[in-house]
Amino acid sequence: MTKIGVFDSGYGGLTILNAIRRQLPQYDYLYLGDNARAPYGTRSFEVIYEYTLQAVQWLFSHGCRLVIIACNTASAKALRTIQMHDIDPSIQRVLGVIRPTVEAVPSITRNGHVGIVATPGTVASNSYPLELAKLATSLPLHISQQACPMWVPLIESGEFREAGADYFVHKYIDELLSQDALIDTLILGCTHYPLLKDKIDAALSGRAVRTIAQGDIVAHSLSDYLRRHADIAAALSTEGTCEYVTTESPDKFNSSATLFLQEPIAAHHIDW
Ligand code: DGL
Repeated sequence: MTKIGVFDSGYGGLTILNAIRRQLPQYDYLYLGDNARAPYGTRSFEVIYEYTLQAVQWLFSHGCRLVIIACNTASAKALRTIQMHDIDPSIQRVLGVIRPTVEAVPSITRNGHVGIVATPGTVASNSYPLELAKLATSLPLHISQQACPMWVPLIESGEFREAGADYFVHKYIDELLSQDALIDTLILGCTHYPLLKDKIDAALSGRAVRTIAQGDIVAHSLSDYLRRHADIAAALSTEGTCEYVTTESPDKFNSSATLFLQEPIAAHHIDW
């Protein structure tokens, strides 16, 4: 089997995998969650690069031909280096989630005021403002970023539905709005954050702000990529399977993953 690998530091990439499988159900998928080392978002560039490379190499050595880094932090800190130095592009491809999201922004915002919520690592990399600045847009863009260091831990620990999570949702949304009260588009620049979308929308209540999750954008971009790269699409097997591996305990992964997938799964543990 020649699979599509999907990688995240933890459970967040499942929001991307869900959307990809809805659009491209025919392919075979292998999901890797490095839950034992999540979150990545507060780690240094060197560590995020080392962990991401290890995961990408593991996926390539276990039957993947194409790997989606379904993590903004790893896309921001490691994707470019891996693409340039660590893979053989004649047989291996690695894609991230930031570029497709950035390309979708101009068609979503009406007034050009865009807010981005993300991990401290993604915000510090400045990847979103830098990539958005490269776009030729008719409307000038005003970009504000807000780091939300508590959101991934709340989600990874399963505490995100509790009332205590409201405090940290309001805190970061209020801080973002104090940077720019005119924001009409909020990009969830972390693949974990769709699980907080209801609370985020509640914190934005009364404002005409569209909250954008990345799943459908990334799925659409992958589908377009495969149309443009027929050789890679032809090399992928099409039995419609999906396997899950985690660096944590599979029992813990299985029970938490159902919050993201709404279906039972049976993950396997891996060691590097
Ligand atoms: N889902 C990852 C992202 O999109 C979370 C990173 C983390 O582990 O902190 O950035």
